[in-house]
Amino acid sequence: MNESLVDPYGRRFPYLRLSLTDVCNFSCQYCLPDGYQCGEKKQFLTETEIKNLISAFAELGTYKVRLTGGEPTIRKDFDDILSTVSRIPGVEQVAMTTNGYRLKQNITKWVNLGLTHLNVSVDSLDANLFHSLTGHNRLKEIIQGIDLALESPLKQIKLNAVLLKNVNSHQIDQYTDLLKTKSISMRFIELMQTGDNHDYFQRYHVSSQVIKNHLFSRGWTEKIRDKAAGPAVEYFHPEYQGSFGIIAPYSKDFCDSCNRLRVSAVGDFHLCLFGEEGYSIRHLLQSSAQKQELKDALRYHLDFKKKSHFLHDGNPGATPNLASVGG
Ligand code: GTP
Ligand code: 5AD
Ligand code: SF4
Repeated sequence: MNESLVDPYGRRFPYLRLSLTDVCNFSCQYCLPDGYQCGEKKQFLTETEIKNLISAFAELGTYKVRLTGGEPTIRKDFDDILSTVSRIPGVEQVAMTTNGYRLKQNITKWVNLGLTHLNVSVDSLDANLFHSLTGHNRLKEIIQGIDLALESPLKQIKLNAVLLKNVNSHQIDQYTDLLKTKSISMRFIELMQTGDNHDYFQRYHVSSQVIKNHLFSRGWTEKIRDKAAGPAVEYFHPEYQGSFGIIAPYSKDFCDSCNRLRVSAVGDFHLCLFGEEGYSIRHLLQSSAQKQELKDALRYHLDFKKKSHFLHDGNPGATPNLASVGG
């Protein structure tokens, strides 16, 4: 039997996004418009459960694992998890998406433990605006952490900024200085409507077309999108080492190149960022002896993956739950 992850539309999934926690130490306005709500304490997947999970994915052809959150580095056992994941046979790329809070102090160690790819959220390069957007006056340290990351053998560094109308959407040029001499990919993400940010979304959503037009007017050109590339459309300029990227999840062909699956911090398997509950697979992560059963379950559920997310079926009510499935 063919043991790999292929969905009914022929898409392959070499990429797993694993959320380690849905807790975050930042309070980004767009992500947590009402601030972090301390609800019931959840039991997040243990290091052993994570090892069993990723070993099964790796045997099904997954070679890239992204650790996300909430903020993944807030877990006390983050270093152990990173080291365990990077040593699993078949895992070639270990990526992380972070708010950068602990970057400066830890990046050298994390690279030594096996981190290969890094994405950092930097919603503004203006210190005051950064402070008001995230709740932390920490831009300087985060940029210093990114500079250290650039000196390390990391294979790829990307920065993310969520586009917010009249807040940071007119500050694109501030990012160009960074890209002059640094091989960074700076991505602008179109604000997504989540279950609890309806009013915020109405007020601040801005189409990424605005950024696109701006980049064109400054001489940046769009790269033809490679099927295996991530969600961003990339823009290059001959005078810059770095690139810009635009992530527009509402664009029409966004899902054609989908190459990733997700597992939440409590062990639910999600086929898409948008609009589905997830299948609990935690009971199959308790022992390495369950690996075959787990692999069968993953392939069984994958058969239900839809061609595109619900928004494309004319269902504007479908929203992603970014906190629980890790962006
Ligand atoms: P790489 O391609 O590995 O760099 O990952 P990425 O750019 O997807 O990772 P990152 O964690 O930096 O996420 C950037 C943005 O892309 C976030 O806002 C995610 O929610 C969004 N995103 C990532 N994957 C998907 C997806 O499959 N569907 C949708 N709609 N959005 C996604
Ligand atoms: N819309 C778009 N992007 C979001 N992120 C978090 N919430 C939203 C949202 N509502 C982004 C973060 C981070 C990435 C993983 O997801 O800024 O860069
Ligand atoms: Fe935390 Fe990321 Fe949400 Fe900001 S966007 S509050 S850093 S999880």
